[in-house]
Amino acid sequence: MSGGWETAPVGWETGADLVVVGGGIAGLTAARTAAARGLRVLTVSKASCTDTATQYAQGGIAVVGPDLDDSIESHVADTCVAGAGLCDEAAVRSIVSGGRAAIASLEAVGASFDRGADGSPARTREGGHSVRRIIHAGGDATGAEVQRTLDAVVPAVHFDTTALRVLTTDGEVAGLLVRGPGGVGVVRCPTVLLATGGLGQLFSCSTNPAGATADGIALALDAGARVADLEFVQFHPTVLFAAGSTGRRPLISEALRGEGARLVDVTGRAFMAAVHPLGDLAPRDVVSRAIAELLHVSGGEHVLLDARGVEGVRDRFPTVTASCLEAGIDPATDLIPVAPAAHYSCGGIVTDTSGRTSVPGLLAAGEAARTGLHGANRLASNSLLEGLVVGERAALVAAERAGRAVDITDVALPTYRRIDRAVLQRTMTADVGVVRDAAGLAEAHRVLAHGVVSEPPVDARAVEDAALTAAAEVIVLAAAHRRESRGCHTRRDFPEREPAQLRSLHIERDLDGNLAIVNDEVMTGAR
Ligand code: SIN
Repeated sequence: MSGGWETAPVGWETGADLVVVGGGIAGLTAARTAAARGLRVLTVSKASCTDTATQYAQGGIAVVGPDLDDSIESHVADTCVAGAGLCDEAAVRSIVSGGRAAIASLEAVGASFDRGADGSPARTREGGHSVRRIIHAGGDATGAEVQRTLDAVVPAVHFDTTALRVLTTDGEVAGLLVRGPGGVGVVRCPTVLLATGGLGQLFSCSTNPAGATADGIALALDAGARVADLEFVQFHPTVLFAAGSTGRRPLISEALRGEGARLVDVTGRAFMAAVHPLGDLAPRDVVSRAIAELLHVSGGEHVLLDARGVEGVRDRFPTVTASCLEAGIDPATDLIPVAPAAHYSCGGIVTDTSGRTSVPGLLAAGEAARTGLHGANRLASNSLLEGLVVGERAALVAAERAGRAVDITDVALPTYRRIDRAVLQRTMTADVGVVRDAAGLAEAHRVLAHGVVSEPPVDARAVEDAALTAAAEVIVLAAAHRRESRGCHTRRDFPEREPAQLRSLHIERDLDGNLAIVNDEVMTGAR
């Protein structure tokens, strides 16, 4: 979104203490916490019904248990190692320390996690974790249980409602412009929380739902907030492969490898042991890169996951089993074809660990935000943890701001600059995927320069396309600037980690609406 303001045809107006944009774990946790404190909360979602990344999450929630072999410091260390030097260690410690209380509060409203024979929470392991610390629900249906719990306790979500613009007065949030079933309207409020999820729809194949279109990134940039670390798009190594398929693809949980599954190439050769000391349980960026490079050399399209040795695989992993069976594959007897696909945006809108952005009153949480927890590569199962902890804290910030007078002086719609979705996905997949180089990034930059500009009103799809285009521009700018390989960002032309680039790139729009790298934040989480 940029430039060319036009007065919006506002048809209705209402007020709230907090507007939450998004219906996943971070947004609904904030909404329920704020409502419990007596705030007037309005939660909007552009979807027609619940369809969030949260509900598809499988592996679980990383949370330190009472066992002596685990500790907050061990979880902090694993997170910082996976984050390849770009984690904010203080933020990591703060969020990881909030895990147990956040889970207890979710259980108090009805969430039920799997238990072992002794009645204590069952824990599994995933890539990059030094111990079994990941709790889960319904075997591999953790996100579905979290979503079910929150849907039941959060006051009604306003579906089919698209956020068009965060309204600010003198640089501070004064409201949100939305379009819902009743047309374009304004919600006057001192606090807006962007919990819009990720950007997986930038790529041809993703584990993300159809709504993962970077909406929060575009809204935040438009409102003057900063984004960072967006070059670090995490590709999950094991997504169910089917020739020619695009869109949302079923995840084959990393927890399968935690329970003994092994990656092999199409000749049956196990290849991860030679790549990393943790073998199949190496951090996710390492595994995705190993597969991408193997496929680059062989010209193949997938590798195989051998889960035949996983005890009771069908019962322990019912979601994975259902997806496989639908594709005619029985994980108990067959090898599963898998390939990397876009999974998670490690970067996002720059916030502190309570969701505060650089714009007073504008908060962000969950995948849309960048707290410094993930650095250059998110550790498995840290995302639901972050959504719970920061979502709850964001509600407390909203409570502090409730009652502030808001004065809306300017209600205007942006114009929308966008690239055709299919072209964008093809370009991002070919040139800005698991492995990048200068020539590919230059090609992506060239394609992105040819956006079409639409004047409002535009349909919801065009709003999404403009958000995807803005996010793609940020990713390409940052990826071209980062001449090194670090975490999820691999440059074939700069294969080494470069100590001088141990910093996060912060990006915002300048007064002309152009993207600019505004500062380099030297990070503290190097391990
Ligand atoms: C998985 O189950 O492999 C995904 C977990 C995550 O992305 O944290």
